[in-house]
Amino acid sequence: MPRIFSGIQPSGELHIGNWLGAVRNWVNLQYDFESFYSIVDLHAVTTGATDPGHLAQQTMDMAIGLLSAGIDPEKATLFVQSHVPAHSELMWLLNAVTPVGDLERMTQYKDKSRGLKSIPAGLLNYPILQAADILLYRADTVPVGEDQFQHLELAREIARRWNQRFGGGEAFFPEPVARKTEAVRVMGLDGKGKMSKSQGNTVGLLDSPDDIWHKLRPAMTDPARKTRKDPGDPDVCNIFALHGHFSSADTCGMVAEQCRTAGWGCLDCKRVLADNISERFAPMREQAQELKADPQRVTDLLARGAEHAAAIANETLDGVQACMGLLPPLVVSSTA
Ligand code: TYM
Repeated sequence: MPRIFSGIQPSGELHIGNWLGAVRNWVNLQYDFESFYSIVDLHAVTTGATDPGHLAQQTMDMAIGLLSAGIDPEKATLFVQSHVPAHSELMWLLNAVTPVGDLERMTQYKDKSRGLKSIPAGLLNYPILQAADILLYRADTVPVGEDQFQHLELAREIARRWNQRFGGGEAFFPEPVARKTEAVRVMGLDGKGKMSKSQGNTVGLLDSPDDIWHKLRPAMTDPARKTRKDPGDPDVCNIFALHGHFSSADTCGMVAEQCRTAGWGCLDCKRVLADNISERFAPMREQAQELKADPQRVTDLLARGAEHAAAIANETLDGVQACMGLLPPLVVSSTA
């Protein structure tokens, strides 16, 4: 069975951007691939800005979100990144074949480091850890949204360089490719950039119907629609784009018509979207309630996931260490 790996930061919330861009695909693909999904807490601490008082809970919340969204622990291996130390170890070894220049041209690095007086090294080295995540499982497919495509390109480059330098002519690491959904870049409700927890422009998968409505109400629409009577252009409206993911084809047709003729105001259109989003995620909210009431079950699943992931990861790491010529771990002999 071909293998996939993907990761998500424990940012505290699984939102519809993550879901449409990646996690929905994780769920679909788990039946056809040997799947490894990780809550990447080591990535979350790269800037030092994460609140240590909240990280563990956010990690558990993300696990609950993913399980509620349909990750099936009988099919996929779900685990917390820091529970498998081989991730950090392989990252160190991959430093050896990663040019600093390649790291410096990463768009996310440029965006996140801009304006910082002191740039944490973790921000620069972040994509090496991401490459290690994927390569540890020798995964060839990585379901991600567009913001991760460049990191994935670098992971391919790192695999290629390592294979050339240390692989003895063999493709020890496969070169991983991105698996896209049709929603590679979901825009935030403020219409200013991609949907992202750090921008506060999200709708959470587990938000209550009231919360969904309160978030959608002020959301950006076609800026040309200044008053209720102005006709709009659905093709430039993010709310209409979201309808495309949550409403039937008939509803989308009707919404577009009502927008173009100013038959509906934006609030009418948002109300229908809010109801459809709430309805879509109702079973997940229910599932999340059940899991929250049984944290031991979640802990057990994660522990089992880490155990299985570590077995595969350690095998790869042993191979990498051998290829790079490290002295294998020594044991004290019984006569010593
Ligand atoms: P993260 O936690 O920011 O996002 C998790 C996944 O959701 C996708 N995504 C989106 N897709 C479309 N529109 C959006 N607005 C949107 N926001 C997020 C992301 O593309 C991602 O697929 N560095 C990664 C985590 C990571 C990883 C990995 C991913 C660490 N190691 C190895 C793949 C393989 C990140 O911060 O994703």
